Amino acid sequence: MAEGLEGVVAASTVLSDVDGAAGRLVIRGFELGQLAGRTRFAEAAHLLLDGFLDDLPDLDGLERMLGEARVEAFAHVELPHSMPPGLNPVETVRALLARIPEGDDVRTAMRLLAGVSVFTAAVARRRQHQDLVPPDPAADHAADVLRMVRGTTATLEEAAALDTYLVTVCDHGLNASTFAARVTASTLAGLTSAVLTGLSTLKGPLHGGAPGPVIEMLDAIGGASNARRWIESALDRGDRLMGFGHRIYRVRDPRADALKRALKGLSPDAGRLALAEAVEQAALQILRERKPDRSLQTNVEFYTALLLEALGFDASEFTCVFAMGRTLGWLAHAREQVANGRLIRPASNYVGPEPRIAA
Ligand code: ACO
Repeated sequence: MAEGLEGVVAASTVLSDVDGAAGRLVIRGFELGQLAGRTRFAEAAHLLLDGFLDDLPDLDGLERMLGEARVEAFAHVELPHSMPPGLNPVETVRALLARIPEGDDVRTAMRLLAGVSVFTAAVARRRQHQDLVPPDPAADHAADVLRMVRGTTATLEEAAALDTYLVTVCDHGLNASTFAARVTASTLAGLTSAVLTGLSTLKGPLHGGAPGPVIEMLDAIGGASNARRWIESALDRGDRLMGFGHRIYRVRDPRADALKRALKGLSPDAGRLALAEAVEQAALQILRERKPDRSLQTNVEFYTALLLEALGFDASEFTCVFAMGRTLGWLAHAREQVANGRLIRPASNYVGPEPRIAA
């Protein structure tokens, strides 16, 4: 039995396909390269949700609803003491999302999609000790998110880079958080519960929690000449290198290149690209030397960290930004599960003691 369920097919889906041997990601009939950098997030939302929500409007209508939902979400966080105290960014966003009434319709879906973005922006403003910035319902979603986070209007290149990120991570087969969301949806619990399940699963460092530690690694390495020594001693301690390795991909994760292109689109030396490339090369070489039987390659989280840092997000918020994109996949999978699937209820292998026989 595979304890991590590797190789087990647990759902049929029209939403996305990950070919780990070829390094290929197809999202609803499009190669990642046909979507990333060419599609706005609202367009991706329309593509993924099409056919799964009875009341789905056309693209203009959906963007209008998403804008209105941002305004509605903002009303939840602008009041004093509205933010739950003592929680980290993902926990804060999760607590705020839990207040969204359960539902299975397009309005609930837009509330959840907008909620993750608006609540993340509120977390970012509070961290900066700045007043919250209200959304503009008529603005493009990615541009509005950046304005709410930073307080200034984003350039077209910056908004395009965030769009590329959100579209690139919006869906990825039956990853851990999407599987978890489908299990919850299969009980007919509703979209809010499915998204809360997805977010709770995403936050682990083996899944969506990795990009923050990538920045810590780059900070600790400091300069390219330290990379090899730092990586060797991390592996000697038994640590894993964040941003490397993947359950499915045996070649380079195609999303890493999509994000690297977006980073270069901001400016040729955006972020800490030169340092990152040196660290990446050193890491790949050392992983090849130490694990010759296992193909450990760069995954999406490595360039996620650099791109989101260049866009002005703090490392503590990266997982929330990941969730801004992936919520779309959770919603579409939840609806697909309800439409086509059954209650997910696998079996377990009992390895405990036999019942005692009474003396
Ligand atoms: N650094 C060092 N060694 C690694 C790494 C890594 N990043 N990834 C895997 N390995 C090693 C493991 O230690 C293991 O070695 P062993 O057989 O000697 O014990 C071997 O490679 C296989 O590892 P598994 O855990 O079986 O691989 P799995 O498919 O379960 O892991 C995972 C995938 C969890 C992503 C892993 O590669 C990892 O921990 N990476 C670092 C965290 C990370 O970047 N996560 C983000 C993934 S992308 C996403 O979820 C959006």
